[in-house]
Amino acid sequence: MNILGIETSCDEPSAAVVKDGRVILSNVVSSSLKEHSRYGGIIPEIASRRQVELIYFVVQRALAAANRTLSGIDAIAVTGRPGLIGSLLVGISFARALAFATKKPLVEIDHIQAHLYANFLTFPKSDAVLPKLPAIGLVVSGGHSSLFYLKTFTACKLLGQTRDDAAGEAFDKVARILGLGYPGGPLIDRLAKEGINTEVNFSCANLEKSADFSFSGIKTAVLYYAQKNRSKNDFSVKKAAYAFQKSIVQSLVSKSIEICRQKKVKTLLVGGGVAANSALREDLAKESAKNNIRVFFPPLSLCLDNAAMIAGLGYRFLKSHKRREE
Ligand code: KG4
Ligand code: ZN
Repeated sequence: MNILGIETSCDEPSAAVVKDGRVILSNVVSSSLKEHSRYGGIIPEIASRRQVELIYFVVQRALAAANRTLSGIDAIAVTGRPGLIGSLLVGISFARALAFATKKPLVEIDHIQAHLYANFLTFPKSDAVLPKLPAIGLVVSGGHSSLFYLKTFTACKLLGQTRDDAAGEAFDKVARILGLGYPGGPLIDRLAKEGINTEVNFSCANLEKSADFSFSGIKTAVLYYAQKNRSKNDFSVKKAAYAFQKSIVQSLVSKSIEICRQKKVKTLLVGGGVAANSALREDLAKESAKNNIRVFFPPLSLCLDNAAMIAGLGYRFLKSHKRREE
């Protein structure tokens, strides 16, 4: 079964063809990031305009790269929510019109849960070992930081989430405070490697007896630290970046492991843009091994927004005859 996936929740129109919910035949992502970088964040108006301009061509390219025409597609999956409404509308309208014209089934998919599904995707001829369910899922992106219990592919229960900023949002805002640019995650990730130190310390609020996170306090702490110390000779952006990242990673790692232990679940799935963070990947792998938990991260290309994850999860919903997540 070949599913055409369409994802337009934010600034990057994407289309993909995925076979049997598993094998990626094509995955085209078109970025408008350069335009947003000038403003230090996503401008919804620019994002939705680019979606309108590019979606038709992105879908065409995904079909061509998969060596398929529409007649070789069995169903269509599209991001239904959450996201920027102007951007979402482009993909949903496009997918509904396509499904109507071709009389193919259509399924609307939750973008956050699809980030976790990225762990179940493979490329042709890959022999990767895939995760087993049930699992705990940690989604860390620019808009979300959430923990889920995944009983099956289509039964995903929210256990906790951030009470304020998302982890990626904190990376982006702190990068701006430190004068680094946008998006902040990859920049901080790179700089932190050169700023290892014990002098600068920040901490994230630890919400005890809860699966929730909080990242806005640490962002303010970095702001005050930078304001107070910026003019000093020994002020180091690299050291501040390292200390900030260390604390965010510690918070994500300790909460995820705690929830796995509480729920007695031995599989941990990570997804979303921040899943590309090298310190998070390293520390979570170490702590999971200590606790006899198997942790899975998608390949870097599937951590960020992409339509392959939408097509993959779409297949699971179509197979289970559910049109939406529970
Ligand atoms: O999942 P995504 O592409 O979009 C949303 O659905 O939000 O995630 C984008 C976020 C941005 O905040 C970006 O700074 C962050 O992921 N990010 C990273 C890294 N690469 C991207 N954060 C930390 N370390 C990285 N290496
Ligand atoms: Zn995302």
